[in-house]
Amino acid sequence: MFAWLCENPTGVDALTWQELPTPEPAAGQVRVAIRAASLNFPDLLIVQNKYQLKPPLPFVPGAEYAGVVEALGAGVTRLKVGQNVACLAGTGGFGTHVIAEAAMCLPLPDGFPHVDAAAFIMIYATSHHALVDRARLRAGETVLILGAAGGVGSSAIQIAKAVGARVIAAASTAEKCAFCKGLGADETIDYGSQDLREAIKGLTGGKGPDVIYDPVGGALAEPAFRAIAWRGRYLVVGFAAGQIPALPFNLALLKGASIVGVSWGGFARQEPEASAEALAELVRWYGEGRIKPVIDRTLPMAELKAAYARMGSREVKGKLVLVNP
Ligand SMILES: NC(=O)c1ccc[n+]([C@@H]2O[C@H](COP(=O)([O-])OP(=O)(O)OC[C@H]3O[C@@H](n4cnc5c(N)ncnc54)[C@H](OP(=O)(O)O)[C@@H]3O)[C@@H](O)[C@H]2O)c1
Repeated sequence: MFAWLCENPTGVDALTWQELPTPEPAAGQVRVAIRAASLNFPDLLIVQNKYQLKPPLPFVPGAEYAGVVEALGAGVTRLKVGQNVACLAGTGGFGTHVIAEAAMCLPLPDGFPHVDAAAFIMIYATSHHALVDRARLRAGETVLILGAAGGVGSSAIQIAKAVGARVIAAASTAEKCAFCKGLGADETIDYGSQDLREAIKGLTGGKGPDVIYDPVGGALAEPAFRAIAWRGRYLVVGFAAGQIPALPFNLALLKGASIVGVSWGGFARQEPEASAEALAELVRWYGEGRIKPVIDRTLPMAELKAAYARMGSREVKGKLVLVNP
């Protein structure tokens, strides 16, 4: 097998494509021949030692992948050789093969392409947990999505529309805003050229959004929070801007608003049954055509560094997927 190895977590430049012994699965594990792996923002952080998960060195990055089960470890009965699966494992995806815990593999129904499956669990599970579970978003409510053209942002547009909400998508360029409109956003805000707080007020008649979905943080958080509606719910999803914002507590008091933390990984660990139910609902929604990952482009696995560069320079619209021949 071959894989991108991180021996020294100093950044993307230090990754090397290496031939490794093809591993055999232990009890409860399977070997997956990887067909596709998607790039998520945490993949960028983990190779720089900036992510909360710090795997022992060396490790193969690539949190999320899809492929075909090739070998079964002892005691694995819920999967078969030849079965198509998707897996969000945290590491291991940027290679040709990987050992996965059988319990972590999502068996794929027929007609679920590997490219879509590799770009599915992280974004939809996060946005479903955030909007449906944590914010209790209801039909007719207004949701503002920041970083709306990115991976989790684009999935949040689709989930919010599936729930029947009015969606204001905010992004840094006019091109990204047009992309969000194409995904079903009702309105857009280009925060690269517009004042965010004034634009939100203008689009909501001064009332503000009921829910704000924020995977960006940084300088956007305070103006967005200042514009939130009475009883609003502000979803803390991530800090792609690099800076963790701080908010004066009086703003929450004045609006009767909630600051709601979103940790999909924590949810999946603490509440595995609820998490599995949500995932099953999302697979059903995919089958019904209500959600579908938007693929920015696919690149050969060998071009991982180009994919990382595209994500780091904020060029990705939707999801980038690496594929094996
Ligand atoms: N809480 C959870 O459970 C959970 C789960 C998954 C991901 N996340 C987090 O969600 C965030 C987004 O992840 P993603 O995979 O959707 O990433 P992504 O596809 O790269 O999207 C991130 C968006 O953030 C914006 N951005 C602003 N400043 C940026 C900067 N300096 N560098 C890069 N992007 C910047 C960009 O939009 P504009 O150019 O339009 O501003 C970009 O589209 C990450 O912080 C990730 O860790 C959290």
